[in-house]
Amino acid sequence: MIRPVLVLLTMSTLLACHSSRKAAAPNPPIDSYHYSIEKTVTGNKGAVVSAHPLASEAGVLVLKKGGNAVDAAIATQLALAVVYPGAGNLGGGGFLVAHLQDGKELAIDYREMAPSGSSRDMYIDKDGKARTDLSQDGHLASGVPGTVAGLFEAARYSKLSFKELIDPAIELAEKGFVITEREARSLNGIQQDLQQLNTRPNAFQKKDKWKAGDTLVQKDLAATLRRIREKGAAGFYEGETARLIVEEMQRGKGIISYADLKNYVARSRQPHRFDYKGYAVVSMPMPSSGGLLLHQMLKMIEGKDIATMGFHSPQAVQLMIEAERRAYADRAEYMGDMDFYKVPVAALTDKKYIADRMKDFTPGKASDSKIIGPGKAAAKESEETTHLSVIDGDGNAVAVTTTLNGGYGSRVVVGGAGFFLNNEMDDFSIKPGVPNMYGAVGGEANAIAPGKRMLSSMTPTIVLQNGKPYIVTGTPGGTTIPTSVFQTIVNILDFGLSAKDAVDKAKFHHQWLPDAVFVEKDFPAATQEALRKMGYKIDSRGDIGRVELIRVLPDGKFEAVADKRGDDSASGW
Ligand code: DON
Repeated sequence: MIRPVLVLLTMSTLLACHSSRKAAAPNPPIDSYHYSIEKTVTGNKGAVVSAHPLASEAGVLVLKKGGNAVDAAIATQLALAVVYPGAGNLGGGGFLVAHLQDGKELAIDYREMAPSGSSRDMYIDKDGKARTDLSQDGHLASGVPGTVAGLFEAARYSKLSFKELIDPAIELAEKGFVITEREARSLNGIQQDLQQLNTRPNAFQKKDKWKAGDTLVQKDLAATLRRIREKGAAGFYEGETARLIVEEMQRGKGIISYADLKNYVARSRQPHRFDYKGYAVVSMPMPSSGGLLLHQMLKMIEGKDIATMGFHSPQAVQLMIEAERRAYADRAEYMGDMDFYKVPVAALTDKKYIADRMKDFTPGKASDSKIIGPGKAAAKESEETTHLSVIDGDGNAVAVTTTLNGGYGSRVVVGGAGFFLNNEMDDFSIKPGVPNMYGAVGGEANAIAPGKRMLSSMTPTIVLQNGKPYIVTGTPGGTTIPTSVFQTIVNILDFGLSAKDAVDKAKFHHQWLPDAVFVEKDFPAATQEALRKMGYKIDSRGDIGRVELIRVLPDGKFEAVADKRGDDSASGW
């Protein structure tokens, strides 16, 4: 099946909420029929950057009403569930990382869970063949959705009522919004799957082709959002919405049950935190590999003077590729949901371990993934996506990445409820050594078990300078997420690039297996040639990541940058 590149959504919000707020002037409602895409915005009081201009506007609207960064993040995500159906979601999951004004840090895990009826070999047929068709498309591909529970967990730190945060999304679903050229193309690309996989009418199927300027109205989704507005998380996990989900499952031989929905819990975890050259990096812990991979990759290059090698120079790129290769080899072996599997986090980030991993790095010569393999992490210890970031003048910062996994997830719309279900089960290792849809392999650590959360790559990240938020960032892109965040951070901290260049310049990616360097089409040809001479296999591919980034400028203003690669848009005030 053809999948649009876009699968995750990323939003970044920076906001400044001053305690001495003036009586708010009435805020004009969002005009969903006329809007424009802004790639760079500087805000005095706040800013939001996300995959869609209307969602960014929804976040800023909430800020203007007196909400804080967490409020804006929630409102933006809810709006994305309407205006960015390929990845914004109610039927998926995500992660939220925050650094709050009082120094408290959050890592809210609302990753999907394997249904209670799942089992390790559920996608292996009687001939031993891995059925990636079933883990990727249709009803059996879905984990129990976590987004709504996650938003309510986050709302413990918000200022406004949840009702106020969900209202913009309800209005966007009810009244509809005008779609862009890119959205039209994306919706046209899934019509066949929609027809094959759905038995009930939905807002996304259309006889004629979608075109830019059409209005997408989502009445069923509006009704679901209203149930959440009235009943809280129970408006999704119980009652009418639960009934619609379970009936959808029954029609399509899926296995999510009433009990699975009712038992879903979002978990508050300790963020994965480390230092890089005097900056503190706060990111997502397991069940995302993102924070740990970022930690390993940055530490593997920290001792080298990468700045003098130069941005996009063969030397610098080679060093980063080899760090990526080694970290991803560890991912395949060691990483998975720590509630089920003891991931040796301390061993994998130990100073000597990191140094040993890079001992066989040879400048000017490609390593070989057949030889590198995962490291020996000392005696295993005892023990289509989107991102958002937020900061305020009081020092609150939030980064969220959320996903359905593939574009439009399983491509199953819950009949009568109006939202897509995820195909996140494919992020498990469905059979040891069999690549998932991002080419990632795994084994025991990431095997399926009922109630387990599948390993993710999502990397919502906040970089602190002198203890205060400096960069808030994240991106979609499956396994390319940690490498994109890695490069974006190095681009700013080491190469001194502007925020815009750090986001927009060509990216590269290595994930151990396959043993190839993937580069975007505009990656410098001379560097590609130099890498080939070192022994690398270079594969040119489409876009890598869609980074949304907010940086705090020396004067305290917020610079929000939306990736050039999509309709992503920044909004500030
Ligand atoms: O959690 C993960 O790592 C994947 N499900 C993310 C998927 C993704 O980023 C798709 N975006 N292009």
